[in-house]
Parts: sequence; structure tokens; C-alpha cells
Amino acid sequence: MKFRSAAWFGPADRDGFIHRSWMKNQGLPDHLFDGRPVIGICNTWSELTPCNSHFRRIADHVKRGVYEAGGFPLEFPVMSLGETLMRPTTMLFRNLVSMDVEESIRANPIDGVVLLAGCDKTTPALLMGAASCDLPALMLSGGPMLNGKFRGRDIGSGTDVWKFSEDVRSGAMTMCEFMDAEACMSRSAGHCMTMGTASTMACMVEALGMGLPSNAAIPAADSRRYALAHLAGRRIVAMVNEDLRMSKVLTRKAFENAIRAVGAVGGSTNAVIHLLAIAGRVGVKVTLEDWDTLGRAVPCLVNLMPSGKYLMEDFYYAGGLPAVMRELGDLSHGDAMTVNGKTMGENVAGAPCYDRDVIKPLSDPFKADGGLAVVRGNLSPNGAVIKPSAATPALMKHRGRAVVFENIDDFRARIDDDSLDIDPSCVMVLKNCGPRGYPGMPETGNMPLPPKILKQGVTDMIRISDARMSGTAYGTVVLHVSPEAAAGGALALVKNGDMIELDVAARRLHLDVPETELATRRSAWKPPQPPSERGYYQLYHQHVLQADRGADLDFLVGKSGAEIPKECH
Ligand code: FES
Repeated sequence: MKFRSAAWFGPADRDGFIHRSWMKNQGLPDHLFDGRPVIGICNTWSELTPCNSHFRRIADHVKRGVYEAGGFPLEFPVMSLGETLMRPTTMLFRNLVSMDVEESIRANPIDGVVLLAGCDKTTPALLMGAASCDLPALMLSGGPMLNGKFRGRDIGSGTDVWKFSEDVRSGAMTMCEFMDAEACMSRSAGHCMTMGTASTMACMVEALGMGLPSNAAIPAADSRRYALAHLAGRRIVAMVNEDLRMSKVLTRKAFENAIRAVGAVGGSTNAVIHLLAIAGRVGVKVTLEDWDTLGRAVPCLVNLMPSGKYLMEDFYYAGGLPAVMRELGDLSHGDAMTVNGKTMGENVAGAPCYDRDVIKPLSDPFKADGGLAVVRGNLSPNGAVIKPSAATPALMKHRGRAVVFENIDDFRARIDDDSLDIDPSCVMVLKNCGPRGYPGMPETGNMPLPPKILKQGVTDMIRISDARMSGTAYGTVVLHVSPEAAAGGALALVKNGDMIELDVAARRLHLDVPETELATRRSAWKPPQPPSERGYYQLYHQHVLQADRGADLDFLVGKSGAEIPKECH
């Protein structure tokens, strides 16, 4: 079989000389250019992305497997996205990385690719970019950190940061204790070990069939993560020989499996946006409504933070995602193809569960409602998302007075002010934190409560915004309101004192203001200034889609394949 890399390395002419000769300066012998499959290893390693900082070692193990199977591995970097450091938000750059991935693959002599991802946005960015090329591709996640350990108990990435910082604000924890917890939380290589966005993404990858079985949960520090990397290297060579392209794996059934798996693991609301964007690239119709309808029948089976008690290390020892998919039974499509050449059903048949307190049976779930609810109404005509399993049941049906923050600066300036006119029955509203507004749709949706409310012992209130929320966070938080305020959505028109009704069971989000009054406010509304006159910010602002369409750039939706570009010399 002739692979696309042969167009570079095959010809016995001037151009072939140039392609081979310069590569040989790396010490590569002649036989590697004999027509064997070239495997790209797309690496998001960066010391600025601590969750992916062990990826050079992982890549080395992938290479072992590629060589062993008769392939030729070539590692290449793409822009990395570190959740904890990048400003204004990594989400602004997810689509940029996807472009980097897509064009890096297509422009180079690559026949198949192993995608190395870990921190939140690296996973969707790589899947989106690779899907637009549609070559054989396999994703290898970097694995979660070991459980955090602080003063004799387990603590989870993110989830306990939010808890501790609220405790400091309410006076329940000293600043000294708070600082002590830092090193205890992040004590090994890997990504956040709660069922936050990174772990949700890793579960999504496995449920989509894009990762080898057990890819989601093996800790980064566990030697089996490196054995899996070796096997991934072996397998991608076979995938190229079988021409098992991404579009053969990423079918509608695969997306349905992923939506249900996210519900079953109590996954992050961020999965909604990323999955919609990935489906858009590969050309499979998936809508926001699918999240509601497919997720409705799925209970949450996994007792992990932020909704539960355990962490990813425990999840792996309990059986990991194969045990969850087996438990889902008829709720998943057993005939969906996966990257190892077997169906999902074949992969998970007989997958054991070793700890029923971590992974519950379908007959006795951890929480009855695992799915994500999509609420609509005059405040979110194109939908908004809430995660019932992380919310307070008593607030799921509520009518309250709006306390409005025009943007994140306004919120930060006023939230700690004891004169803020707010009580626990109010509904906190944050505007201009959507894709265009911030820009980039940051994780500011789980607004911290005012100290004067926390001091009353109240830990949750309804919060509504066009922002996202960290997958490690919790609360009765309505997110991704679409259209966003900066695009002229009704969210922009809410004023202090307006009454808002949330009814999750009825899937309703209503701003109780007469339509005539809203029309008056709308005619006075002016769009905020674009964030920049130039560069990527401007491109993003002009082309980003709303949250209900995955917040991809409009011109990136779909795929262009991997046709070999013109010669460069
Ligand atoms: Fe990287 Fe959480 S900060 S996964």
C-alpha cells in the first residue's frame, strides 16, 4: 500500500533528496524512508501546561510502539493550552490550536497520528483539528494526577480550591492552612483528578471510541499509562494499514455513546460545547437538544468529585470507564467501532467493577439524574445548560429577584461589598462573559457568593450567565446562555430587580418582564466594543459561533480531508 508520506519520501529526484536529506540530520537511517507508514505524534507538551508536562516521556513510549509495529514516528509540537495560567481564557485559543493541528497534519508527510492531550482544551482542540483532516488518528490522554492528600484526607483539584477559598472568605479556614494545601493538591504529574473537564474529556474520548480501553483513568504516574502509550504506538500503525479513519469511528452512535457516558460519570458541562464542535468538524449532526434527550434516561453512576466523594485514581482501581460502559448496557451502542478495531461492546464485555462505592450499578445509581438539562425561554431562546447533579434540589424550581453584574469587573468590584442589595433568594446574573463578550467564554459562571451570604451558612444560590463553569465546580448554575449578552441576547436586557423564573423539570428559564418593556430596552442597547482591532482576537470576534453551536469559528466547521498539498520547492 502506498501512503501519503510516499509523496515526500518516495521520489528518487531532487525533491525526494531534499525531503530525506534534511531529515537524516536527526540520525535517521535509510530504511525508515522505505514507504512504511509515517506516524505523527502531535504533542501538547509545555512547561506552561503543567498537566501536560510529562508528555515527552509519554511520546517516547508511543515511539517504541510505532517502531515495534514497523512504522516511522515523528513527533511534532502544537500550541499548548494550560488552564491555570493562560489569560484571558484557554477557550479563546481552542479553535486556534485546532487550526494549528489541522494544518500541521495536512502540510506534512503524515499517514496517521497519535494525539497527546491532557489539560482541558487540549483534548477538544486536537480532536477538532484532526477530524478536519480525517486521517487515521488515536488519542492518548496524559492521565490524571494521583489523589491530593491534605491533613489526612483526600482533596480534589479545583473542587477543594473553591471550597477552601470560600472557607477563607467565611472565616472557617486560615490563610496559612490555605497555603499549606497547595503542594498537597498537585503532588504528581497529570491533569486534574476530579471529574472536572479534563477527566470528562478523557472519558468522552474513550466513549467516542477514539482512545484505547482504560485510556481515561490510568493515573499519569502509573507505569500502565506508559504501557498504554506503547500499545497506542503499535495500534496506530495497524490503523493506517486498515485505513481506519476518524470518520469511521466518529459516527452518530459514537457521539450518542459519549453523551450518555458524560451523564453516567457526572461529567463537566464543558463537554457540551466541545462535543458539538467536534461533531461539527466531522459532519455528524449533534444538537444541544441531543444532550437533553439522550442524557435524560442516564443516571450518574460514578461517585466522584465534584458531585461525589472519590477521585480518578479510585475510579481507575474500581474499573474505570469500561466498567461504566458495560453497566450502561442497552443505553449505549455496543456496535460502535473504536480505534482498536473492535466495537465498544466487544471492548467492555465482562469489564469488571472492583468497588461498588465508586462505580454504582445501573439498578442502584449514585444519582438518578446524570444528564445535563437544557433550559429555554425568553432569557435563553437558543438554550442554556445546567448540571442537575451538581445543583441544590430546592433551587431547581425557583423565582427570584435579579442582582445584575454587567461584566466580570463589575462583579469583582461589588461582590464583597456588604452594602450589596442581595439575599439568598436572589438570582445572580452575570453578563458579557460569552464567546464574544469576554472574549473567549471563560469559566466565570460559578460566581462566588457574597461573604455576607456565606456567613449566614448559605452555600448555594441560582447564578445565570453566558459564561462556562469549571468542571470541578458545583452549584445551581445556569450556563452558556445563548445568544450571549454581547451578541444582543436577552441576557443583555436584564436589570436589577427583574424577576427570573427557573424550572429545571419544565426546562424553562423565564425573564418576567413584559415584551413591550424588553423591546424598549433592546432599542437602547449598544453592543460592547470589540476586544481588539487586530490579530487573532479580531478574527475570533468576527467569526466565533454561539455556545449552542460549539463556539467554533464559522469557517472551521466541516472538514477538508488530507489531500497532499503542492510541492514547496
Ligand atoms: Fe489542567 Fe485542570 S488545570 S486539567
